[in-house]
Amino acid sequence: MSTRTPLMAGNWKMNLDWKQGLALVEELGDQLKGFNTDAVEAVVLPPFVDLRTVQVAVDAGKLPIAYGAQDISAFESGAYTGEVSGSMLTALGATYVAVGHSERRQYHGEDEQVTSAKVKAAFAAGLTPILCVGEPLEERKAGNHVAYTLAQLTGGLEGVDAEQAKQVVIAYEPVWAIGTGEVASADDAQEVCHAIREALRELHGDVVADAVRVLYGGSVKSSNVVELMGKADVDGALVGGASLKAEEFAKIVGFQ
Ligand code: G3P
Repeated sequence: MSTRTPLMAGNWKMNLDWKQGLALVEELGDQLKGFNTDAVEAVVLPPFVDLRTVQVAVDAGKLPIAYGAQDISAFESGAYTGEVSGSMLTALGATYVAVGHSERRQYHGEDEQVTSAKVKAAFAAGLTPILCVGEPLEERKAGNHVAYTLAQLTGGLEGVDAEQAKQVVIAYEPVWAIGTGEVASADDAQEVCHAIREALRELHGDVVADAVRVLYGGSVKSSNVVELMGKADVDGALVGGASLKAEEFAKIVGFQ
């Protein structure tokens, strides 16, 4: 494990209405009572419509949980029906936003141009982007997984300066491991997370490369998180299904 503060982020995806979201965040707060957030950062990424509820619960209970959104508009404000801007998210106390999740790429046609615009929109609003990258199964089978993932990384970070790059969080999520129960081996995760860090080193130098947190995502559970976190370049996890159960996600957060 590295010296960077680990980050465990729960991506609720399109699950839980506001009442269910409230129950989950309150239960998670109970599970994490007294938790030292300097040791591990716990983040949840609820659907947009649950964010206000999560804000109120976190503030009222002084819960050791940060929160953010699963997506952001590339635009600042105005006539963009259905979009949610970065400043709307920061007004809700959000501090993180996922950008370029494979489900956004797959179902909404988001490419590098879009992800790079959204990364910039996140920074402009004062949010920390969690840029998601990772290969589909065919690319892994063809042995192209590193090159494919790094192309998404450099595309998404196009035009980002070193100061901003230092703040970014990268989530390596091989598409074939998402929601399938098939977790990448810790060595597979390390191989790509390391390649991501070395690409950042080449782009922005040692200070940036050594500061950026690189997460692994794809069927992470309390039973496999310790092994993944044992790898030098894995600084945390982006968790889907297992983040919908308070006890299980709290175990992942408290993996140490
Ligand atoms: O963003 C998290 C993710 O896509 C992984 O989902 O359900 O495999 O943990 P899951």
